[in-house]
Amino acid sequence: MSVVEAMPQGRVEIDEVSIMLGRGAQSFEAVRKLSLSIAPGEFVAILGPSGCGKSTLLGALAGHIPVGGGRLLVDQAPVRGPDPSRGIVFQHHTLLPWRTALENVAFGPKMRGEPRAQRLASAAEMLATVGLSGFENRYPAELSGGMQQRVEIARVLINRPRLLLMDEPFGALDAQTRLMMQSLLLDIWSRVRTTVVFVTHDIDEALFLADRVLIMTPRPGRTRRLTEASFPRPRDVQLTTEPEFARLKRQCLDLLRPDADDQPLPRLTPLGLAAAGEPERRRSY
Ligand SMILES: Nc1ncnc2c1ncn2[C@@H]1O[C@H](COP(=O)(O)OP(=O)(O)O)[C@@H](O)[C@H]1O
Ligand SMILES: [Mg+2]
Repeated sequence: MSVVEAMPQGRVEIDEVSIMLGRGAQSFEAVRKLSLSIAPGEFVAILGPSGCGKSTLLGALAGHIPVGGGRLLVDQAPVRGPDPSRGIVFQHHTLLPWRTALENVAFGPKMRGEPRAQRLASAAEMLATVGLSGFENRYPAELSGGMQQRVEIARVLINRPRLLLMDEPFGALDAQTRLMMQSLLLDIWSRVRTTVVFVTHDIDEALFLADRVLIMTPRPGRTRRLTEASFPRPRDVQLTTEPEFARLKRQCLDLLRPDADDQPLPRLTPLGLAAAGEPERRRSY
């Protein structure tokens, strides 16, 4: 059976989800009553100021962080814990340094008891999908940062996830490699068609990749705006220089500007006081 074939559904229902972090007196609300429905195979990007709860929301979708209120459903089933069908890729890879690229990708199936020949064949196919044929026997340290992230993506995709979660996966790469990885990701996604939720604080990246962009407010993270980025596909990097792209980018900047990253974060106050009902600051530009 080919690994690059129809993935399971991947419909996501985020229904008034609130997430608490910290313990006891330190406890605070990181995400507040956030709702979003994601169609199977859709690509959604999440943009928001640093500390607004993007990683927290992604962690909840992965099943690493419990939801404090509301419902989080993937294909109608509540998320109760981590599962290979909801794979996550972080900014830094999680490859085992003493295993080759091929062995790293084959590791998930190995843990599930898949026969050796079968899992190595699937892993080789997956490496080909991310453009790494010929690098099967390299160790992670022998690969560039972009290649390591490609192996990481293959390692997640071999589990045929219904949901691919990405938390600033290209954030540590240089600008050139980053653009290349964005195009590669779109190419892979056009073939595997799994649902993608992609966290970034790069507006260009969000608009270039996604069907829709969720813009979050500062902590506690709520929906500020859900923006359609309905540019035709396949997309080329030229898109980022088109007037409609620039118009949407300006809109996003506007939505993110009042509480931009360089503003001090609200002090850690008791539950829910920070930012509640705060009037929007006047925009000046
Ligand atoms: N395990 C934790 N315990 C306490 N606070 C945390 C924890 N993880 C993150 N935070 C805080 O929660 C808020 C949301 O974090 P996070 O989801 O990582 O934000 P983002 O990914 O949008 O930058 C931040 O203010 C962060 O400092
Ligand atoms: Mg984060």
